[in-house]
Amino acid sequence: MLMHWEQWGSFNHRVPSQPLYPRGIAGRAELDPARLSCRVQAGSTTMEGTPLSLERATSDIIPSSADIAASEGMSLSTGVISEGVKQLKQEATGEVTQSLVQRLVRNTLSSAETIKSIPSSLEATSQCTQDVLSSRTALVLYGSETGNSQDVAEEMGRLTERLRFNTQVSELNSVTVRQLLLPSVVLIAISTTGQGDLPANAQAFWKMLRSVRLRLGCLHSVRFTSFGLGDTSYPKFNWAHRKLYNRLVQLGAQPICDRGEADDQHPEGVDGSFLPWSIKLRQRLLEEYPLPDGIETIRDDVLLEPKWILDFANVEAISASTKISQNGKRILDLENSIDHSDLQPESPDIPPEDLLAISGSLTATVVSNTRLTPPTHWQDVRHLTLTATSQHLYCPGDTLTVYPKNFPSDVTQFLKIMNWLPIADSPLKFIPTSSVALSSHTSSPLHNPPSPSDLTLRKLLTNYLDIISIPRRSFFSQLAHFTDDPFHRERLLEFTNPEYIDELYDYTTRPRRSILEVLQEFESVHIPWQHVCSIIPFMRGRQFSIASGGRLKTVEYALTKLSAIRNSQEAAPIKELHGKRSGSQKDHTRFELLIAIVKYRTVIKRIRQGVCTRYIASLQPGQQLSVTLQKGALGISKTESDKPVIMVGPGTGVAPMRALIYERLVWQKETMQESTSGQKGGDTQMRELKGNTRPTDMLFFGCRNSQADFFFKQEWETLKKEKVMLDVFPAFSRDQKNKLYVQDLIRSHAGRVYEVLAVQNGLIYICGSSGKMPQAVRESLIEVFQQQGNINHDDAEAYLIAMEKTGRYKQETW
Ligand SMILES: Cc1cc2nc3c(=O)[nH]c(=O)nc-3n(C[C@H](O)[C@H](O)[C@H](O)COP(=O)(O)OP(=O)(O)OC[C@H]3O[C@@H](n4cnc5c(N)ncnc54)[C@H](O)[C@@H]3O)c2cc1C
Ligand SMILES: NC(=O)c1ccc[n+]([C@@H]2O[C@H](COP(=O)([O-])OP(=O)(O)OC[C@H]3O[C@@H](n4cnc5c(N)ncnc54)[C@H](OP(=O)(O)O)[C@@H]3O)[C@@H](O)[C@H]2O)c1
Ligand SMILES: Cc1cc2nc3c(=O)[nH]c(=O)nc-3n(C[C@H](O)[C@H](O)[C@H](O)COP(=O)(O)O)c2cc1C
Repeated sequence: MLMHWEQWGSFNHRVPSQPLYPRGIAGRAELDPARLSCRVQAGSTTMEGTPLSLERATSDIIPSSADIAASEGMSLSTGVISEGVKQLKQEATGEVTQSLVQRLVRNTLSSAETIKSIPSSLEATSQCTQDVLSSRTALVLYGSETGNSQDVAEEMGRLTERLRFNTQVSELNSVTVRQLLLPSVVLIAISTTGQGDLPANAQAFWKMLRSVRLRLGCLHSVRFTSFGLGDTSYPKFNWAHRKLYNRLVQLGAQPICDRGEADDQHPEGVDGSFLPWSIKLRQRLLEEYPLPDGIETIRDDVLLEPKWILDFANVEAISASTKISQNGKRILDLENSIDHSDLQPESPDIPPEDLLAISGSLTATVVSNTRLTPPTHWQDVRHLTLTATSQHLYCPGDTLTVYPKNFPSDVTQFLKIMNWLPIADSPLKFIPTSSVALSSHTSSPLHNPPSPSDLTLRKLLTNYLDIISIPRRSFFSQLAHFTDDPFHRERLLEFTNPEYIDELYDYTTRPRRSILEVLQEFESVHIPWQHVCSIIPFMRGRQFSIASGGRLKTVEYALTKLSAIRNSQEAAPIKELHGKRSGSQKDHTRFELLIAIVKYRTVIKRIRQGVCTRYIASLQPGQQLSVTLQKGALGISKTESDKPVIMVGPGTGVAPMRALIYERLVWQKETMQESTSGQKGGDTQMRELKGNTRPTDMLFFGCRNSQADFFFKQEWETLKKEKVMLDVFPAFSRDQKNKLYVQDLIRSHAGRVYEVLAVQNGLIYICGSSGKMPQAVRESLIEVFQQQGNINHDDAEAYLIAMEKTGRYKQETW
């Protein structure tokens, strides 16, 4: 028997007090559009709440009505249902009802899909099927430093959800080794950081996994696979992934398919390798965990339930921004909506100055934000000085993370094209959906949620959602659900088809087209505001190597510097800031950063700006911001200060090198004082003696022109006058016809480089842009060892690998 739409037709929310339940089920639901509240009665249970909670309530109702249909031997025709849904969609107005409709569409389609081929006599099988499905579980784990692996894990989670696994996605540190035994399958996405290390949010898990108390074979019942993210410009490519994979296998875990690996250097980014690998993974999962008869996978064109949705925080907010139309429908009050940005045309387009609530952050005040390159030079490089109250200890190689904000013009543009201006400033709250584990104690999907009064669409788009990022493939499949235009829908779905990976690359990655621009082009797409956090990726902080060390860390230094630059432009803000200070200057910490502002013209001749550096360029002296301080991966310590070093830092890579140079001066002075005061024994005195005879440190710095971007040139000259044992070798790449790079200078100073590294057991640090530079430097060093040590290439490479293993060769590139 075919179930007609009319039979479902009592999903009705046109006028108050009409039944909302499918006929034949003992229950009814009422929607009161004036109050925007609703009541759902199912059997003896009555639920009351907002339409969004109704939405959640209906998620239980609709599948059960579908089950009843199935148990009564009815088969659902997707076509008929879609027709009905279309009708319902046309009737629906306003964001809330739209979103309800979308939920109905989703549930109806997936129920219909599930039931389509269940034979009429399968009441018992249905229970059995349910049991099979509920025991089908996937645990997707990630270890991620800057979010790429987390994105991959979420993508894997969507893949397993579509294969009807009950899926949980979490960071590795949030689980114990024992918990690996529970799910049907464990999938892991992990990046490598530092010098072949695991990301911080995987370290605790790794420690547990390495425990000698774990017996070999203890994980024999675990079925798993893993995907690693790395960069071939690093010597220890994908090491964290390989270490983790090997240890799991050692403990008996059984791979369900070959592990996969991505390389940042791949022209198509992570997707270049993840996409083909995920197709294989899907195939293997279906082979190993076939679906019960009659149950199909959830098609790509069915929208998965978001983990969290937004709702208005209070009813007043809703009534203020909405009105009831003549036919009783609730619509957004567009005519009376106020676009605050239009009212203040004179206000500059710079991000708001409010402090972000970031856990573990410190509040830094901008002392100066000086452009180091002349205005005529194409690249804007900033020397940013910040101070923070109280003492914060940091070492060379440590980083500060700056959390960007979007610009008001972009945010307003986004709100406009989505028709969200009327509710842009209404307080909102997050509501977990049924797919968020009940045990979860979080109250929001945001890592650093704002105070409840600060949770509005405008604030979300300004501070938390990356509307300027380059969209991933999954973004397009989600968008396809929110358009009524068949052409747009078809085009959006094309981008999600693995066969058209080149099209996606040409549309997004190559021209660096942003999410905002995609939405401007697909103007028929209207994302329900309740879903925005599951569709737009979260904004991430960007790390910057701290460029200050030693004496540069203290505020006293800034005051000394002030007297030197009394007449310069930089002096006024510094003076004002320090003039205002009360209390001891020792209670303050200075941070200096060297930041290349990302601004370039794309292949389609559009200007693109980096999300975080555009924000940084807008910072004014006196402004405050929340930053976090991280331990660096270079592992620099005072114990190394008696060894000579070679520093290779082209461009902004010189930042951590400058911190190291100044810190070593303090460390060496301290060591000297300790040895003369007899605090340390003969060893230190020996080292000190050796220090006097040790070779001078070498800094290989690369930039474009001697006049444009030779950062800290004056400082190096001053240090020279102070007899600091440092030689700086600048490679100006564009001052002559042929390129001259740091690796060329390493070759030309082969004798000295060999003396420092091979004879004196010194260390080498390589920092700066990733890509070809680190590999080119590595090759030049192998040549130096080969030529100066009179050994063959393999032995020279082996020597370099040994340096890596013993921590004498360290690289941090970005
Ligand atoms: C440990 C660490 C230390 C770092 N230290 C520093 C530092 O001291 N100084 C510093 O300036 N940065 C540093 N960075 C880099 C910094 O974190 C940011 O990645 C960088 O500033 C860009 O951020 P953004 O948000 O402005 O750009 P995004 O919006 O993230 O855009 C950057 C992307 O734009 C694209 N892009 C950039 N230039 C071009 C171009 N010419 N053509 C085509 N595409 C391009 C690239 O795909 C790049 O990935 C460091 C990174 C790490 C991980
Ligand atoms: N449009 C561009 O040309 C371009 C290219 C890369 C980065 N960027 C921007 O610059 C920012 C980072 O800048 P940055 O100043 O820190 O560093 P950088 O771009 O890495 O440049 C520093 C120096 O390294 C040189 N270099 C380039 N390729 C090299 C290689 N294979 N081996 C050794 N040296 C090499 C550069 O020379 P040359 O540039 O003369 O080759 C330059 O002299 C990026 O975020 C990006 O926005 C722009
Ligand atoms: C400071 C730093 C150190 C890195 N070290 C390595 C490394 O040793 N080996 C490697 O293969 N990739 C290394 N990478 C590359 C990252 O693994 C790669 O960028 C990855 O996409 C980051 O994923 P995530 O955002 O999940 O952390 C490093 C990247 C950075 C920024």
